[in-house]
Amino acid sequence: MGIYFEVIHKDIAGRVGKLKVGDKTIKTPALLPVVNPHLQIIPPSEMKKMGVEGIITNAYIFSKSEEYCDQALERGLHDVLDFDGLIMTDSGSFQMSVYGSVDITNEETISFQRDIGSDIWVPLDIPTHPDTDREEVIAQMQITMDRMREAKEIFGPDAPLSGPVQGAVFEDLRESAGRAVSEMEFAYCPVGAVVPLMESYRYRELVDVIIAAKKGLNPGACVHLFGAGHPSMFALAVALGCDVFDSAAYALYAKEGRYITPSGTLKLEEMSELPCACPVCRSHTADELRKSPDKQKLLAYHNLAVTMAEISRVRAAVQEGTLWELVDERCRAHPRLLDGYRRLLDRAAELEHLDRATKRRFFYRGSESCDRTEVKKYHEMIPRVKLAEVSLIDAGGPIPSRFAEVIGFKPPFGPVPYELAETFPVGPCEIPSWDEVMVAYGIKGLAALLATNPDTKVTISTTEKWAPQFRTAFPDCEVIV
Ligand code: GUN
Ligand code: ZN
Repeated sequence: MGIYFEVIHKDIAGRVGKLKVGDKTIKTPALLPVVNPHLQIIPPSEMKKMGVEGIITNAYIFSKSEEYCDQALERGLHDVLDFDGLIMTDSGSFQMSVYGSVDITNEETISFQRDIGSDIWVPLDIPTHPDTDREEVIAQMQITMDRMREAKEIFGPDAPLSGPVQGAVFEDLRESAGRAVSEMEFAYCPVGAVVPLMESYRYRELVDVIIAAKKGLNPGACVHLFGAGHPSMFALAVALGCDVFDSAAYALYAKEGRYITPSGTLKLEEMSELPCACPVCRSHTADELRKSPDKQKLLAYHNLAVTMAEISRVRAAVQEGTLWELVDERCRAHPRLLDGYRRLLDRAAELEHLDRATKRRFFYRGSESCDRTEVKKYHEMIPRVKLAEVSLIDAGGPIPSRFAEVIGFKPPFGPVPYELAETFPVGPCEIPSWDEVMVAYGIKGLAALLATNPDTKVTISTTEKWAPQFRTAFPDCEVIV
């Protein structure tokens, strides 16, 4: 058995890959809808037709269910749920975090998950709340680690066990937890106890937590973000290197009459139109949906359909190399998501080494685009270019014939030697009319190039509008207009 993860495409720290467990293979990024055997508002067999390749259910609920426990032990989970795709089971940890304790041991829950035929098992980790004090976090992490070690010892190195990464909001603890989990050779690693962060829109901290956990984890590990299910945050989480999500949101929101869109949630009560291409929205008006006796079920279908569609969109963006654009678009849906996005940009230098070398395009979408990994990478590369003794920087002004060497200028990158003009990122970069922030970044790139060519006599040719910004930045250069 064992769990295998293969990365096929990369973008930022995100990946498109294949997760293999036994004879099951699913595409990642993947969403595993949460299935509660007692409240199956969409049967798993129907989910399969909607593109769902894997689901997650709770082993604790099965073990306590008079109706389902024996059935699952006798017939197996796949038969009971009528789903032949990948089924992951969670332990009783979530119940433990809500009710304080559970009446099962680590070994008991894992044995039960094995015996009902689950494809991916979760040990009894402790989901430490983000606001727990450090001493307590360390104590709880120790217990989680001991249980993971015990799980590996009892069930062997090939058991399809996941290794949750805890550590609340302490970055050093998340990193060391990630490292410990990878040292124990867990290939499937959920980042745990982040639900309270997402529920209170603490996306900035969420970004730090994921970066920290990823730093400790083996880059080949498949990373699951526990409890993340709103499609507005998939692009951001994937950009940080998360590969799998699970969600009860499609069902919970439907119960509350809430309509999920990739950029937020609407109240069905207040909607005049259903702006979506799914079969439910195309065959009902908003009013018909509100009055339907199947409202909750139909809304759950819609919610799951848009969630799955967003997962597809994210996978396509990674494959094409347009994930930054998608993150930018999605994170403008809520100011706190924008905080998360800006935090990702602040820390882009740490992700730069993971990013791919070439992409299909670079669309400038505002000043945030200046902090993208590609701009940083370009600014690090450009000082390696050797300039001639005399050089003209063509920043939009006249080109006198006396210059043998003319270097282009494209903000936010900066100087563009002729040989690089058609290559990524400057070649396929589309920018609107220049703005001050992008020119300032371009100037940074030019300053980096001039610093390594101190003997070159540089003339900058630009327009009246931008000349003052160049003159201030380069007092020793001639600036012509
Ligand atoms: N579901 C949401 N968060 C968690 C977590 O931290 N651990 C487990 N086992 N399940 C979860
Ligand atoms: Zn719809």
